[in-house]
Amino acid sequence: MNTLVTNAADFDHLGSLLDDGLLLVDGESSEILRANPAAVRFLGENLIGFQANTVLTASNITQEVRSCFNGDRPMEFVTGVSHDRFRQFRVRLKLMPEGRVAVLLMDMTLQHNLEKVRRDFVANVSHELRSPLTSLVGFIETMQASRELDNATRQRFLSIMDEEARRMSRLIDDLMSLSRVETEEHIAPTDTIYIKSVVQSVIASMSNRAAMENQAILFKDNRADADDAAVILGETDEIMEVFHNLLDNALKYSAPDTDIRVHLFSHDPDHLRFDVINKGEGIPEKHIARLTERFYRVDKGRSRKMGGTGLGLAIVKHIVNRHRGRLSIKSELKGETVFSVVLPLSAMS
Ligand SMILES: Nc1ncnc2c1ncn2[C@@H]1O[C@H](COP(=O)(O)OP(=O)(O)OP(=O)(O)O)[C@@H](O)[C@H]1O
Ligand SMILES: [Mg+2]
Repeated sequence: MNTLVTNAADFDHLGSLLDDGLLLVDGESSEILRANPAAVRFLGENLIGFQANTVLTASNITQEVRSCFNGDRPMEFVTGVSHDRFRQFRVRLKLMPEGRVAVLLMDMTLQHNLEKVRRDFVANVSHELRSPLTSLVGFIETMQASRELDNATRQRFLSIMDEEARRMSRLIDDLMSLSRVETEEHIAPTDTIYIKSVVQSVIASMSNRAAMENQAILFKDNRADADDAAVILGETDEIMEVFHNLLDNALKYSAPDTDIRVHLFSHDPDHLRFDVINKGEGIPEKHIARLTERFYRVDKGRSRKMGGTGLGLAIVKHIVNRHRGRLSIKSELKGETVFSVVLPLSAMS
């Protein structure tokens, strides 16, 4: 950088080629003397004449520039931007001729956001594991301290402990599923599957549970040729997991005594669509776009009471993506909620 940028014309030429922001600042005052188009895009139009520390949030930037100026060594640090708190830059300083310093601004916003997502994920997992664990430890201590517990109380404690242990186990299973489907997401599945019978077998496996709540899961094939086998390229276990999760939600979040419907449509000549429909409270519009985020729940307390961890739809989304499909969600308050899965038909069907 210091060999190239010796005059304004060089600066402008090099700067126009860079995707990174480039500022030329005065080594003493850190006043901005020139800015390339990327820097203008990142920091705003009005830069020339301002001190670097008025646009970058690193409070010591004038100091950094000065010490670079005195020490003649490259320096790097991370900074935000005054007018956009979501942006993050890695800054590299380099001493230039005539007492100037070049400030290279590399946009780190994406990496920074990914890092935040990772941190939030770890915090969520720890939190979700800690609550059942705390409850288990609490009951164990109580039982150890009171030897004279009557049988009914003992049984009650044990059944709560059993439920908490199962919750932890479910969470771990879901985390493993999620991690597996995330790693496999770019590998297209190649098995030929008869999706209609796969979906019907999931429905059959959940019918008893529905019946216990006085509900039924009704399947209907709405295609013009309902005898057609409906073949897709997929992975049976994953497709089963998609419908298991959608039906699990439909049962959990539906009003008592209402039936669940699964309707198959010909979406277009190359795609099938399954609608999983239930009646219940519904989902307020503002939550819909976020439902497939990991751990996102509309009503944390309620979903948790029903044993939910908020990973089900995240798993569904990744599996549907892997199958080159699409998931869409529509919901009316106090009405019908429809989860639609569109999947490409295999060329042989
Ligand atoms: N059919 C539905 N009707 C109303 N709300 C729903 C429905 N399906 C999902 N939701 C909402 O979306 C949230 C996320 O669903 P998701 O399946 O990811 O998590 P969960 O059911 O809470 O837990 P998990 O599936 O991990 O056991 C739920 O907590 C619930 O608030
Ligand atoms: Mg769920």
